[in-house]
Amino acid sequence: MPAKEEYIAAIDIGTTKVSTFIGLIKKNNVLEIKGFGTSECKGIKKGLIVDINEATKSILNSIGIAEKATNLFIDNAYIGVTGKHISYTNNWTEISINSPGKIVRKSDVDKLISIANRVNQPIDNTIIHTLIKQFSVDDEKDIMDPIGLSTDKLGVELLVIYGASSLLKNVINCVKGANIEIEDIILEALASSEAVLTPEEKESGAIMLDIGGGTTDVAVYKNKKMVFTYCLPVGGDLITNDISIGLNIPFAKAEEIKKKFSNVDYNFYETLNRVNMGDIKLDRNKTTLNIRLYSIVNARVKEMLTLIKEKMEAYGYNHSIPCGVILTGGTAQLKGIAGLASSIFDMPVRIGIPIEVEGLSEAVSNPMYSTAIGLLKYAYQIRNFMDLGQIDDKRQRSKGIIAKFREFITKMLKNEKID
Ligand SMILES: Nc1ncnc2c1ncn2[C@@H]1O[C@H](COP(=O)(O)OP(=O)(O)OP(=O)(O)O)[C@@H](O)[C@H]1O
Ligand SMILES: [Mg+2]
Repeated sequence: MPAKEEYIAAIDIGTTKVSTFIGLIKKNNVLEIKGFGTSECKGIKKGLIVDINEATKSILNSIGIAEKATNLFIDNAYIGVTGKHISYTNNWTEISINSPGKIVRKSDVDKLISIANRVNQPIDNTIIHTLIKQFSVDDEKDIMDPIGLSTDKLGVELLVIYGASSLLKNVINCVKGANIEIEDIILEALASSEAVLTPEEKESGAIMLDIGGGTTDVAVYKNKKMVFTYCLPVGGDLITNDISIGLNIPFAKAEEIKKKFSNVDYNFYETLNRVNMGDIKLDRNKTTLNIRLYSIVNARVKEMLTLIKEKMEAYGYNHSIPCGVILTGGTAQLKGIAGLASSIFDMPVRIGIPIEVEGLSEAVSNPMYSTAIGLLKYAYQIRNFMDLGQIDDKRQRSKGIIAKFREFITKMLKNEKID
């Protein structure tokens, strides 16, 4: 429990918008959203910075709005990252235990993790997270805390998440350009999951899909841990693009029509077809505008969700996911998407908005802000972990927090030379 209340800030640099959120960690451990600022984002494509000046301007703008809304000044923040360049390795590493009585000490665990981190690290990549999946003592797996146990061999299975160093540097440069000190970098899929998944979903098994404007972040949870992550470089902008081309209207108009009128619910189409056909003025193609809109949007959303489903199948995550799919991100607001996703995945599907967070309802009830709010929630856990005296694995795991060893990314942030 925090000894005093503290403010933290997070910046979600998305393809369509930059959001800066300011949260207060209250003494009762609850996160309250005190204010936020959102600015249209230019300079980002598919989660990647393509124009540093434009991206920096959007960041500055969103910070300014958040500061005005809260009367607070932000000089440091947690940042989310995503993109196709994010990859991971899953590895087992073992060491022998030579201490008296073969008892595992904290120093053995530290040594094991540092060796495991060196394994298979791709060049030109930087580690963003090192997540412990499980330990083993001798051949016994599924050990959560090996300290104090007696064994000849201690093993660990890690999910090590990397990103391309050059692309991460672009994000860092943009944020530093906005005069913000980066506290830490957090994978957006982890942040969104932290915001919307219930403890039961994380434990029993669930797939989180954050469908934004330019990317779809995927995270699979089992036994309380993220076991798989993936970023598909497509999102809601593609749907808008299809509407724009299909109906021959400008992108902005297509975006408005998508938000107001699109509905991918099969029943909606049926109703539309049966009831309205006689009344609706037909266009040249003898098809109502609504039905054309339905066909365009439905085809694209089906394709996007099928792509993800196939990816899940390829990795064996198409069964033993009792809690099904949780959809979040701006595109989760598309009418009928939960029903369509449920028929494609053949699993229960719900729309996820941030949970266990207080404050402004326009922020906490919108799936568009799941990443930003999740960054604050995840950040709080990292901070708490640090306040507890660095790598206190026992305490860390007893609180159910995913292990995160920050030295790699911290080193990168500190050594960063800004041109
Ligand atoms: N009511 C709605 N119906 C359908 N789509 C919507 C609705 N509201 C927002 N969207 C879509 O959500 C997308 C933006 O979502 P979000 O804000 O999560 O993306 P982002 O974080 O900027 O981008 P990314 O995460 O992909 O980098 C846009 O494509 C937008 O059109
Ligand atoms: Mg996003």
